[in-house]
Amino acid sequence: MKKLVMVTGARRGLGLAICQHLAADGFKVLAVARANSPELQALCDGGDVVYEEFDLAHTDRMHAWVGGLTKKHGRIYGLINNAAIGSDGVLATMHEHDIAQSLLVNLQSPMVLTKYVSRSMLLGGAGRIVNISSIIASTGFSGLSVYAATKAGLIGFTKSLSRELGKAGITVNCVAPGYMDTEMTKSIAPDKLLSIKRRSPSGKLATVESVAASVSFLLGEGAAMMTGTTITVDAGSTA
Ligand SMILES: NC(=O)c1ccc[n+]([C@@H]2O[C@H](COP(=O)([O-])OP(=O)(O)OC[C@H]3O[C@@H](n4cnc5c(N)ncnc54)[C@H](OP(=O)(O)O)[C@@H]3O)[C@@H](O)[C@H]2O)c1
Repeated sequence: MKKLVMVTGARRGLGLAICQHLAADGFKVLAVARANSPELQALCDGGDVVYEEFDLAHTDRMHAWVGGLTKKHGRIYGLINNAAIGSDGVLATMHEHDIAQSLLVNLQSPMVLTKYVSRSMLLGGAGRIVNISSIIASTGFSGLSVYAATKAGLIGFTKSLSRELGKAGITVNCVAPGYMDTEMTKSIAPDKLLSIKRRSPSGKLATVESVAASVSFLLGEGAAMMTGTTITVDAGSTA
């Protein structure tokens, strides 16, 4: 029977690429998004991806929702916390509501979701959790201080949770992508983009496919001895 993996933020960008990669690698995928898209629907038509609608800002509804999903689809083996908000802007002029929303969707929501999904893994005595962080968590980037804090928070969350869940056969890791061409990065100014490209040793930038491949690796047998760590996929930007 195929192992069941939940992927958040599956409508587009990296989340969609992860769903595609995992389905190709033999997993059954629960693709969580606020709305469907033609690209996601095409994946669902393939039979190994199931669309599940949920707004991850509603942490108060997660317990019941996860319970319903496990009843419907069975025990969840993998969880990919990918959904996030970009929240671009200098801190001095950022609305407090936007700060709170970033903390909620990028940090609190993955924590609460992991709390309930990990119960299913604990019962099964096996599981894989992958949190999508960012190189910004450790490098810094002007205009992304709140976003960076949420992504650094995920790394701290990952390390301690790996210690909590290790004996139960559950690994917890991060993947930290560098710049990828998605909706999230559409607003990056051309001069900033040029300097990101200039810093890359290969002159290339990470792609959603290359990051999805690392996520899939962390779900496979080859990564059984990896936990509490972060894989950087940035085409060498931080070298
Ligand atoms: N792009 C980059 O350069 C880059 C670099 C490093 C790390 N990352 C990380 O990679 C991950 C994927 O980003 P991306 O580049 O693919 O960005 P994206 O295209 O903006 O995708 C983000 C996804 O998150 C979903 N999302 C946001 N708020 C949500 C909510 N309340 N409930 C449910 N879903 C919600 C969005 O849903 P909707 O489609 O409904 O809006 C969207 O599908 C993120 O964790 C991001 O921080 C990206």
